[in-house]
Amino acid sequence: MDWKFWKKLACSAPVFYAVLIGLDFCIGETSEKPAPGSAGDTLSVVDKRMAYLVYNLLDSNGIIMGADLERGERLFMRNCRPCHGDDGRRMNLSGDMWHPRYIGSTAHDEAPTFWYMMNFGDSVRGMLPYIDEIPLDEMIDIAGFAQTLPRHPWSAEEAAAAMREDSILESRRKKANLQ
Ligand code: HEC
Repeated sequence: MDWKFWKKLACSAPVFYAVLIGLDFCIGETSEKPAPGSAGDTLSVVDKRMAYLVYNLLDSNGIIMGADLERGERLFMRNCRPCHGDDGRRMNLSGDMWHPRYIGSTAHDEAPTFWYMMNFGDSVRGMLPYIDEIPLDEMIDIAGFAQTLPRHPWSAEEAAAAMREDSILESRRKKANLQ
């Protein structure tokens, strides 16, 4: 190849460059999110988190897709169990003892409420915001697991089984103290 070819190539380089920048501008701007602080960047953090749930996580029945339930259980036990209990039924969230609601019910029946509360909390009710504490992928697993928690009050059988377990433990404790 002679030097003329290289000269032409060198002259057309700026054109190629301009076309590439133009493409990046057109395609990049439409397919990706707007630059933070730009005119198109109008969604708040809450909007983005809630939209993520609706567009990427929920199936048509309101069930979280793609959650690792085993990891979700471990994370729930570590982060949520201290207040909400092993099965999410320590706190009745409805405040009405005849019609109790637990986080299992909220996660299953009202996933957006659950998602909002886990992310942003409610200082009046005493629920902490976790958006800066728990990464998104872990939240997905926790939400998926929470949908499998019981949604109804303890049945008579469950209560009886718990009482039996309690009395066994108590007798063991008594024996241990006597020795
Ligand atoms: C320090 C205690 C504490 C911890 C830890 C905690 N919560 Fe809560 N949570 C609360 C309190 C208090 C409320 C409000 C209870 C009320 O209003 O009766 C609440 C309410 C909620 C609600 C609202 C449910 C509804 O139907 O209104 C959701 C959802 C929830 N918590 C999810 C979680 C998840 C998920 C975790 C773990 C990542 C978690 N919480 C950890 C104390 C806690």
